[in-house]
Amino acid sequence: MHQAAAVFLLAFSAATQALDNGLMRTPPMGWLAWERFRCDIDCDNDPQNCINEVLFRDMADRLAEDGWRELGYVYVNIDDCWSSKTRDAKGRLQPDPKRFPGGIAKLARYVHDRGLKLGIYGDMGTYTCAGYPGTTLDTIETDAQTFAEWGIDMLKLDGCFSNSSVQEQGYPLMSKALNATDRPIGYSCSWPCYQGGLPPKVNYTILGEICNLWRNYGDIEDSWDSVLSIVDWFTDHQDIIQPAAGPGHWNDPDMLIIGDYGLSMDQSRSQMALWAIMAAPLFMSSDLRTINSGARAILQNKAAIAINQDPLGIQGRRLIKEKSGIDVFWRPLSNQASALVFFSRRTDMPYRYHTSLKALNYTKGTYMVYDVFSQKVQPMLKDTTDFVVSINPTGVVMWYVFPAAGWQAEAESVHFTEILKRMMLYQREEYADSLTEL
Ligand SMILES: *[C@@H]1O[C@H](CO)[C@@H](O)[C@H](O)[C@H]1NC(C)=O
Ligand SMILES: *[C@@H]1O[C@H](CO)[C@@H](O)[C@H](O)[C@H]1NC(C)=O
Ligand SMILES: *[C@@H]1O[C@H](CO)[C@@H](O)[C@H](O)[C@H]1NC(C)=O
Ligand SMILES: *[C@@H]1O[C@H](CO)[C@@H](O)[C@H](O)[C@H]1NC(C)=O
Repeated sequence: MHQAAAVFLLAFSAATQALDNGLMRTPPMGWLAWERFRCDIDCDNDPQNCINEVLFRDMADRLAEDGWRELGYVYVNIDDCWSSKTRDAKGRLQPDPKRFPGGIAKLARYVHDRGLKLGIYGDMGTYTCAGYPGTTLDTIETDAQTFAEWGIDMLKLDGCFSNSSVQEQGYPLMSKALNATDRPIGYSCSWPCYQGGLPPKVNYTILGEICNLWRNYGDIEDSWDSVLSIVDWFTDHQDIIQPAAGPGHWNDPDMLIIGDYGLSMDQSRSQMALWAIMAAPLFMSSDLRTINSGARAILQNKAAIAINQDPLGIQGRRLIKEKSGIDVFWRPLSNQASALVFFSRRTDMPYRYHTSLKALNYTKGTYMVYDVFSQKVQPMLKDTTDFVVSINPTGVVMWYVFPAAGWQAEAESVHFTEILKRMMLYQREEYADSLTEL
């Protein structure tokens, strides 16, 4: 597959310039407060939904007890509105005393005790986006040190209330300051989002050297329109965006809104599939205390997660944009495998899309196909075999595809556990452990 080779070379050249903190060799996974809980600080009247230490302890409990952690969802991330409106006497950031009476260090211990990691939020500028104290050029080292002392594992650094010259200095300086703390702290940079996400203003080589992930584009909202606009921006600019990703440095199309209010089940599967194929960080932003079982099943789909977490770390691309409203995405994976997403932009009825693997540039051969969401092994396919997939409106069909060589002829009788084992072959040990529970 010459296309795979070309993509691989691009990804490889980017990977040689990764931020050298050893973190996030696969896209980070976890939970982030912002999309679902925003800046609700009214704990008197809305105690269940306000930004306080209870919310983060609750989410840590859910991640640890409801099967999320074993699948890789390990970050519990605080967003804006956690801090006091003033710095302390020594000029350090401090949490709001009423909403975080135990302090952040204690919260970090709570999270760590459950085998999870704690992320926090800052802003390279005079104020955070919601008006809390920002990190200015002269407080970068202090803030990095404070976060490290608290036991923070990840920092999202936003970019409100600053200009491009402050950002150009500040984002690399924070990377240096985090490194100087000696504590491995994943670093998420909102910088490119504030510079329009594209060259010449954005230099993805520099981003890959200083950040583990970065927000290229605007905030996600709880709607299908929002998901679609993000997917369109990422794919329209994929020639620029896609080669920038690789182990340790990822494009971030923002949080998963699966389990909130804006997406149907088909649209939820679409977000999961497209985020997996884009090698996107998987940060859920829903209420894990009350999430429904359908959304949970999509977010906990082992095959989708394994595709997202593929160790080669090559971001997928849109191969085809059909006039019929069908888009086909492809991502090369380790172990000679690949993933396909057939995505329907239609809004009428399930669409029967005809194609063949050869038409999708697969090389000559016979392939095994596992359907990620129906969790069924499909009949084997020759590259030349014409096939039909039925794709629901605003929905997807997602496939994991690999050469059939070595698998018995009665492919359909292969249990999906066997396929998952194959997918996990080169994966983290947690996955292997979680498989034994199947
Ligand atoms: C700091 O950077 C050096 C050199 O790039 C690297 O070896 C080290 O692991 C980094 N340390 C942390 C804590 O990120
Ligand atoms: C950017 O902001 C800094 C800090 O507020 C200020 O000193 C500088 O003059 C600004 N630069 C431009 C080009 O506006
Ligand atoms: C991006 O930054 C790198 C490293 O500093 C530099 O070599 C390269 O020329 C820059 N690219 C562009 C397009 O400015
Ligand atoms: C397949 O490869 C050919 C030759 O490089 C190219 O013209 C075509 O666009 C590719 N098709 C797809 C679906 O990527």
